[in-house]
Amino acid sequence: MKKTVNDIDVSGATCLVRVDFNVPMEPGTHVISDDSRIRATLPTINNLRARGARVIVATHFGRPKGVDESLRVAPVAARLSDLLDAPVHAAGDSVGADVERQAHGLAAGDVLMLENLRFHPEEALNDPIHAAALARLADIYVNDAFGAAHRAHASTEGVARLLPAVAGLLMDAELRMLGGILDSPRRPLATLMGGAKVGDKMAVMERLIDSSDMVLLGGGMAAAFLAARGLRAGKSPVEADGPQMAGRILSAADARGVQVLIPSDVVVADKLSAGASAAVVKSNSVPDDAMLLDIGPETRDAYARALRLCQTVLWNGPMGVFEFPQFAEGTRGVAHALAQHARAGATVVIGGGSTAEAVDTLGLSQAMTHVSTGGGAALEFLEGRVLPGVAALQDMD
Ligand code: 3PG
Repeated sequence: MKKTVNDIDVSGATCLVRVDFNVPMEPGTHVISDDSRIRATLPTINNLRARGARVIVATHFGRPKGVDESLRVAPVAARLSDLLDAPVHAAGDSVGADVERQAHGLAAGDVLMLENLRFHPEEALNDPIHAAALARLADIYVNDAFGAAHRAHASTEGVARLLPAVAGLLMDAELRMLGGILDSPRRPLATLMGGAKVGDKMAVMERLIDSSDMVLLGGGMAAAFLAARGLRAGKSPVEADGPQMAGRILSAADARGVQVLIPSDVVVADKLSAGASAAVVKSNSVPDDAMLLDIGPETRDAYARALRLCQTVLWNGPMGVFEFPQFAEGTRGVAHALAQHARAGATVVIGGGSTAEAVDTLGLSQAMTHVSTGGGAALEFLEGRVLPGVAALQDMD
């Protein structure tokens, strides 16, 4: 277990709080389309302010190569200020003499937001001189950026080696919820996996097969599993080695006595487009000119029934192309079933990225036990990998 902000005295201290405010924007605008990652850090920031700390908030935003006007943090700073109902002072940079002056001039409870950390290439290089420049701003380092904890950057790893470094409350919640799935889930544990490609999920599936009692598969990658079972997947895009990888997962599950459910019916169309007309077919009779774009209604119901038998469910990856209404019913149906299951007392954990986005769009985030703010970070954590941003934090005594 890692120390958290509650394990140290922060009164009168300046805390550098690394957050992940890499939030989505409406295309071509500076309008935030989903502020979940900002909201999720409010408990940490409010905790520190209430205990008399001076707070410096730091994030990356996008993947700029040097200073990029379109990737300044002003919109996220403004949203943070609204949500805190307090001023958020803007620093023009993330390091340097001016920022140090601003940092040292803060009063208890003040919040200062640094400019996009990635405007300095030294950030991603984990440059030690750059990490030292960040460390000069504060007395204590707090990492609440679970979504960026898989990056060994100056603000996630280097600086944590130079200051007393503890987890924020969001980081702590992520580690406990996702760690609980790996280490001590209430059983039975079901893993519901979707998404486009088997290759993207191979490592996490191999790890989760070890601890799951049941695995349910959907999304575009279901095509590879149908192929591995000798069924035809029409013209669905399947990676060249997809069926082979899927076969490996099925054999590993067999060897461990883990039940695997694959779709018995699917929603297909001849192309992926907003106007495409959808049809439901049995998985053993997918036409050659059709693509799999969602799980079918029979599968949806079977999955909902199976998931209700499990005390813990981890869901990672949509069941279909939920951006288009005709291919969204699988994801919607499963999300509603899981929300109901969580309300009835089951532990339902949603992996981040597009699954979190789907659940949020459906207005079901609050019903779930936990919705991870990590995309790549959540996957790497569930693969059993050590995240550098976590490893650098102080352990509990
Ligand atoms: C994310 O959005 O997954 C995190 O903010 C990490 O972003 P990155 O992949 O650009 O490091």
